[in-house]
Amino acid sequence: MSKSLNIAVYPGDGIGPEVIAPTLRVLQRVEQLDGTFQLRFTEFPWGAEFGRESGRVVPDDYLDQLRPFDAILLGALGWPERLPDHVTLAPLIRIRQAFDQYACLRPARLFPGLPCVLADKRPEQIDMLVIRENSEGEYVDQGGRLRRGTPDEVALQTAVHTRRGVERILRFGFRMAQRRRRKLTMITKSNVLRHAFVLWEEVLHEVAGDYPDVSSERQHCDAAAMNMVRRPEQFDVIVASNLFGDILTDLGGVLAGGLGLAPSSNTNPERRFPSMFEPVHGSAPDIAGRGIANPLAAMLSAAMMLDQLDLPPAADRIRRAVAQTLAAGHQTPDLGGALTTNEMGERVLLQLEPT
Ligand code: NAD
Ligand code: IPM
Ligand code: MN
Repeated sequence: MSKSLNIAVYPGDGIGPEVIAPTLRVLQRVEQLDGTFQLRFTEFPWGAEFGRESGRVVPDDYLDQLRPFDAILLGALGWPERLPDHVTLAPLIRIRQAFDQYACLRPARLFPGLPCVLADKRPEQIDMLVIRENSEGEYVDQGGRLRRGTPDEVALQTAVHTRRGVERILRFGFRMAQRRRRKLTMITKSNVLRHAFVLWEEVLHEVAGDYPDVSSERQHCDAAAMNMVRRPEQFDVIVASNLFGDILTDLGGVLAGGLGLAPSSNTNPERRFPSMFEPVHGSAPDIAGRGIANPLAAMLSAAMMLDQLDLPPAADRIRRAVAQTLAAGHQTPDLGGALTTNEMGERVLLQLEPT
């Protein structure tokens, strides 16, 4: 009996639908080749265009619509020319928080055969996993504006860091480090943000003893950004707050070959809610509509989805096919090549075929 899985597909805006289309073809082929599961896709046409027609970027009950699914596959959101980003992107943040997808996993690993933006760095020197706290921190929607539009205007934006939230993401990070090279770097900025990040450091100190096989350290965010460029090989697992994790994962993405390759999961490890999978990149309005976006970040995000659905052999099929496609020199323009999105998708499909 093959197991049946319901996947909500939210392609979104800009290059989102362009990279999701070939990703669904790859998933369908992997399903056929694997033979142990069936994916049922339900597409939700939400986003900026939907917002222009209906006045809302998602329907009021979008969380209720998404909740019953086994997983959510998202392309990208945002169309700043049409709608302000804080409107179009609000559902994305809300899904992460409402479904308690507190562990955002963003691996940054350089594929063999690809040039690195850093001179003389080999693939084995760029292999890190950034774990971004995804449910609170700087991204809680708390704050306000006073005396709007006057010279005395005030904006308040409050971050919320809970002991429970910090502890669970650090413990998650330690467990991931145990499965990798057993090193954890916690990102801090306790020299200035002395309420939030002194709490982070205290919790790190308290829990580290439970994982004696993992060495842990902390680095201030500014120094970590420099060290990711200067000595990327010193990083294994990085645990960061929501905003620091956001910033460092664009950097991680570019170190590992570019945003066109960087995948991401928004995971609820306890599986009380569906997890969501999406590329690190956005809707790339600068290239949208031209059919040249790199679909590999979306495909690698779909592989992370299969891992979470307990289908690691199927996930490995996608990762292997992507690696072989890149090793064979097939590249979209962001990597220096000339393939279109669909041509790149075809190359990956060919690599999936058993030899
Ligand atoms: P972006 O990630 O969309 O683009 C940054 C640069 O990377 C652009 O030059 C773009 O062309 C390039 N790029 C990104 N993905 C690519 C791909 N798959 N193939 C080839 N090139 C690629 O970031 P931005 O320009 O800062 O933001 C654009 C919009 O996307 C904004 O509305 C922003 O808020 C939104 N955004 C959404 C998400 C998301 O949905 N998860 C993430 C980041 C940004
Ligand atoms: C990301 C994006 C989002 C974030 C934006 C678009 C809301 O940059 O997923 O990295 O800041 O989390
Ligand atoms: Mn980001």
